[in-house]
Amino acid sequence: MYILAIDTSCDDTSVAVAQNTVVLSNIVSSQDEIHGQWGGVVPSLAKRAHKERIDTVVRLACKRARIGLEDIDVFAVTYGPGLAVSLEVGVEKAKELSKIYKKPLVAVNHMMGHMCSNFESFGEKEIQLPTLSLLVSGGHTELVVMKDKNSFSILGQTLDDAAGEAFDKVARMLGLGYPGGSLLSTMAKDGDDCAYALPIPLVGQKRIAFSFSGIKTAVMRLIKEITLYGQHALTKKQIQDVAATFQRVAIAHLVKKSKRAVEESNPKVFLLGGGVAANTLLRKELRKMLKPFGIPLLYPKKKKLCADNAGMIAIAAYYLAKEKKYVSDIDALERNPIASIEEISP
Ligand code: KG4
Ligand code: ZN
Repeated sequence: MYILAIDTSCDDTSVAVAQNTVVLSNIVSSQDEIHGQWGGVVPSLAKRAHKERIDTVVRLACKRARIGLEDIDVFAVTYGPGLAVSLEVGVEKAKELSKIYKKPLVAVNHMMGHMCSNFESFGEKEIQLPTLSLLVSGGHTELVVMKDKNSFSILGQTLDDAAGEAFDKVARMLGLGYPGGSLLSTMAKDGDDCAYALPIPLVGQKRIAFSFSGIKTAVMRLIKEITLYGQHALTKKQIQDVAATFQRVAIAHLVKKSKRAVEESNPKVFLLGGGVAANTLLRKELRKMLKPFGIPLLYPKKKKLCADNAGMIAIAAYYLAKEKKYVSDIDALERNPIASIEEISP
């Protein structure tokens, strides 16, 4: 089965072609240079860039996969969650292609895509059910149990900011640029992660939930104290120390709540997905936590598959298409910015 998948959920225009779960091409046209100067995603600019680029990215994905649009068996698209004006561009393009080439359309949940990014790297044998996934991106932080390939339940999620959003906001406070997650973790490598005291959120509580707005505010206060309310600029050493301390606390929070979820759901494997899954310290700490349980940690072998990309949407679409979960009324399909992974596909 040849699948062409589109993801325009936020600020990357991405199109991939896959043969079953093997990704043949995965083009990502990043808009970082557009949004970087504003310190975050500007929806109207994102929409315009998606519209300008989508046809070229479709063409490139087909060219790289050495396939024509007429050879595609199934078209797939991210319908949500994400930025409404961005999602719209991909949904409209996928509807158009599906109608022109008279092939079925699969609507994919973006978070299911992040989870399925693991299926390109690992075979069916390695991914034994049930799985527990920690999905950590710029918009979401959730622990999801998968009982079978098309049935998910959320064990816990963030009460406020997402993990990636917290990394981005702290990076911005430290003047590191956008998107800040990877820049912050690079800075943290040379920092003292115990240089300052920051509280781990919800630490005494048994409930499985995340909260990042408290750490973010604590970092803001800390920076004010260090700089005497802006009288001095932060030194490089101070930036490294704040970055390392924040990263240690944010990751300790993610790992502690993941441990609670492991105890509750007894998974066979633990999957990591989303942009923050690229973080090496997170991988290391999760592996350490999972060791006594004898549970393997899996994450996409290619870093590109952690961040937003249409390859993961094509893989998710394969499992949905195998079950014939096609969109029944193509004209009626609409983007859903707040779609939940529990509803799978409309
Ligand atoms: O999944 P993703 O590419 O897009 C969304 O669906 O949101 O995730 C992007 C997020 C950004 O917030 C980015 O700063 C974060 O992932 N990120 C990281 C790292 N690399 C990317 N956060 C922490 N450490 C990293 N190495
Ligand atoms: Zn994402």
